[in-house]
Amino acid sequence: MHRCALFLTKRVWQLRPFEPFQSPNFSLYSISSFSLAILSTSPSPFLSSFLHSLSPSSSMAPGIEPLQRSTNGGSVKPDSHLSDDGVSHKSKVTVIGSGNWGSVAAKLIASNAARLTSFHDEVRMWVYEETLPTGEKLTDVINLNNENVKYLPGIKLGKNVIADPDLENAVKHANMLVFVTPHQFVEGICKRLVGKIRGDVEAISLIKGMEVKKEGPCMISSLISQELGINCCVLMGANIANEIAVEKFSEATVGYRENMREVAEKWVQLFSTPYFVLTPVQDVEGVEMCGTLKNVVALAAGFVDGLEMGNNTKAAIMRIGLREMRMISKLLFSSVKDSTFFESCGVADLITTCLGGRNRKVAAAFAMNGGKRSFDELEAEMLQGQKLQGVSTAKEMYEVLNHRGWLELFPLFASVHEICIGHLSPSAIVEYSERKPNFSVIDGHAQ
Ligand SMILES: NC(=O)c1ccc[n+]([C@@H]2O[C@H](COP(=O)([O-])OP(=O)(O)OC[C@H]3O[C@@H](n4cnc5c(N)ncnc54)[C@H](O)[C@@H]3O)[C@@H](O)[C@H]2O)c1
Repeated sequence: MHRCALFLTKRVWQLRPFEPFQSPNFSLYSISSFSLAILSTSPSPFLSSFLHSLSPSSSMAPGIEPLQRSTNGGSVKPDSHLSDDGVSHKSKVTVIGSGNWGSVAAKLIASNAARLTSFHDEVRMWVYEETLPTGEKLTDVINLNNENVKYLPGIKLGKNVIADPDLENAVKHANMLVFVTPHQFVEGICKRLVGKIRGDVEAISLIKGMEVKKEGPCMISSLISQELGINCCVLMGANIANEIAVEKFSEATVGYRENMREVAEKWVQLFSTPYFVLTPVQDVEGVEMCGTLKNVVALAAGFVDGLEMGNNTKAAIMRIGLREMRMISKLLFSSVKDSTFFESCGVADLITTCLGGRNRKVAAAFAMNGGKRSFDELEAEMLQGQKLQGVSTAKEMYEVLNHRGWLELFPLFASVHEICIGHLSPSAIVEYSERKPNFSVIDGHAQ
């Protein structure tokens, strides 16, 4: 039995991937700002002739433009994207950063930019220039081989990715900026970009970490917004870059501010693939705090692994860590939602990072060496230029807790930092139970 339904829906092309509206038998026709969507559960002669009667080769009503089907809710190339005055309104994307995750982000974006009409094909990727052991410049090698041989070897980025060592040149035409560098470099990068970017720029941060200022903690998305005067969404999730690079299924969360849902949908469209599924959530701080703090918990999980304490202990550490993550997030930002901790950026990212991430791995080595070899030394030896975020985040979080008189409330976070700097031994990760947090100090706010 054939079924056919008509939906008049404004901006229906912005639906998220995997909405029930998307199926092999689903077509979209836009009528100015309204769209007419025809849904059929199976091929139908009636539907075919109806669609044919609407096709451009038949007598299509003025203003009705067929959109080709796309797997992630956007119309696909080669449609033109010119306004009445002939000006292109395609979005132009620059990725700022080219490490492990930066390169995977560029690959995801490039596949969609090449396919979807609303984006320029070319994706710029700013590369912090390095000379390789061969004497070649990393940028030249990326542009020649279409591969970031240092940070993502063996993976083709897409021919439309152009590596650019000149930051100002890389951003000058872009209206969508993707920030994905280690967090310690962001402030310097933003200062260099002041006055150098377009007026209509939207940004998204994939960066995990925070800056601690005199006034208190400053999340990276806020830093970008403040320095450049632009809106900044965030993308966080259970996303170990190397797994996404080989197209293993995973999910992520896009955090956006009030009234910015449409912008978030555009980011979702830019990153979505059948193997990378994104959910927008109106909670920038919640999403970003999850992404940032899980690295501290991952260090604790690494100590447990290095000391071979077993799975029960590791699960306990993850549970306590999640509780501290939620509590500090809600204490610092009252708008943070509990539901965010159940998204990919929350519990899923915590699990993957505690099982397989670089923070866990280096922390395990630190514990195996009885804390005798420093994190700096192990990072240099084990990560080949990649950066650890957890150690600096643990320090920054410690400063915040100390400043606010909350150290006693967060024994896991406090212990991780004290272990990292050698004031406690790695085994102290399970010895803080006597320091039971006194929640009465915070009037039950975040418990
Ligand atoms: N790798 C992952 O699996 C992953 C997943 C999710 C999020 N992240 C987050 O993404 C962000 C970027 O991580 P990554 O994995 O892409 O980087 P990375 O750690 O793999 O590489 C370090 C990058 O920093 C660059 N760099 C070194 N010195 C610099 C300087 N002075 N100024 C600017 N850049 C400099 C290097 O060229 C390199 O591109 C981090 O916040 C990280 O937490 C990483």
